[in-house]
Amino acid sequence: PADIQGDLSEVLLSEAEIHARIAELCREIERDYEGRDLLLVGVLRGAVMVMADVSRELRRHIEMDWMAVSSYGAGTQSSGVVRILKDLDSDLTGRDVLIIEDIIDSGLTLSWLRENLSSRGAATVEICALLRKPAAAKVEVDVRYVGFDIPNDFVVGYGLDYAEKYRNLRAVGVLAPHVYS
Ligand code: PRP
Ligand code: MN
Ligand code: MG
Repeated sequence: PADIQGDLSEVLLSEAEIHARIAELCREIERDYEGRDLLLVGVLRGAVMVMADVSRELRRHIEMDWMAVSSYGAGTQSSGVVRILKDLDSDLTGRDVLIIEDIIDSGLTLSWLRENLSSRGAATVEICALLRKPAAAKVEVDVRYVGFDIPNDFVVGYGLDYAEKYRNLRAVGVLAPHVYS
């Protein structure tokens, strides 16, 4: 069988580094939301791994809901077009909402999503993103919890895909150019 790890030119973040950072973020989240109900909103599909690990690392009750939006096609470029593919099941009125994302690239998805969720009457809408690419930003997004700022390379793994593959890698790595060129 093909070794998917072999399609990486570099491992950026190991599984252990990711989990250590998530633990730190979760201690901040526990402190910041003490005494308040918390709804985690995961953005399908990339945020599945972050959601699984953040939710289990939190030593408190949470609720989970999911939205599916898409800003990318099968390629590596952001189109800026955000579509709702699956909406939330929860009523957000008065809720403290924490959006869980894998990566902020151009920022277009999250700036749109924060506006959209705020307009539904949430009390607060904050963002937790494992990765952020400062050099790729097209709009500024105020992110309360960021795992790592990374270079503007095409990264995959830990939920992040290239043409729907590589999401199941435990590490985050740079996709070797020969794979997509
Ligand atoms: C990716 C990623 C973020 C978004 C970031 O999702 O998971 O959700 O793009 O890009 P942006 O900051 O430029 O908007 P994608 O649309 O590829 O869907 P997926 O999560 O199903 O892979
Ligand atoms: Mn996504
Ligand atoms: Mg994607």
